[in-house]
Amino acid sequence: MNLIKLNAIDSTNTYLKGLVSKVELEDYTVVMAETQTNGRGQMGTKWMTEPGQNLTFSVFKKINCLKNDEQFYLSIAVSLAIYDALTFLNIPDLSIKWPNDILSWNSKVCGILIENIFKNGHMNAAVIGIGLNLNQSDFEGMINASSLKKITGVYYNKVEVLQKIVDRIKFYESWVVERKFEDLKSGYENLLFRRDKPSTFKHKDGSLMMGFIKGISDQGLLKVLLEDEILEHFDLKELRLLY
Ligand code: BTN
Repeated sequence: MNLIKLNAIDSTNTYLKGLVSKVELEDYTVVMAETQTNGRGQMGTKWMTEPGQNLTFSVFKKINCLKNDEQFYLSIAVSLAIYDALTFLNIPDLSIKWPNDILSWNSKVCGILIENIFKNGHMNAAVIGIGLNLNQSDFEGMINASSLKKITGVYYNKVEVLQKIVDRIKFYESWVVERKFEDLKSGYENLLFRRDKPSTFKHKDGSLMMGFIKGISDQGLLKVLLEDEILEHFDLKELRLLY
């Protein structure tokens, strides 16, 4: 692993994408920052964490074996990698909230933002951005967020945890390359937050609906069984699972 440690940067994803466009990068080049001034989250949100307390890093990975409609398998691989690393650290009651939030006791401890790089219309590489709340003790105004330290009382070493996550990404990368898609999908579905439980969703038009999460499609859409027994597929722009 080629680790670039930065004190402050706007966003490790943005920085790494800029680097990719200028120089040839080794696989598993990792950029980590103590502080991000413009950390980015899913769907244009901001990722805000206390400076120095948490892991905010991005991993460069060449990957050209996935068709454009198979990209979600990388997201699954990364979610499973983080799940394994946190299991190794004895973090309790872990689950994956679709598409790729990692929860412990229903609180979000980790978010993932994967930005794919395309060449001639095909996925060629990815910048895998990970924000893992490690040692932050205060999450004022963020009712669903927590950190590993808040949950276990243990203080975590950033680079040790990062190394464990990268090791597990390497492990699941081999599943992606070997096209073990069914294994990836079932591993992910087994860990899905609120699977088969009655859940409330907010639709993009603001309306609330009730349904049961049944799993994901081959493209990573969420399969929800609605009240009228109809199984529908949704993408991230269409609905949000409320806690
Ligand atoms: C989310 O849950 O919305 C995804 C959050 C991803 C945050 C990480 S922190 C490191 C990397 N750099 C960014 O700007 N975002 C990702």
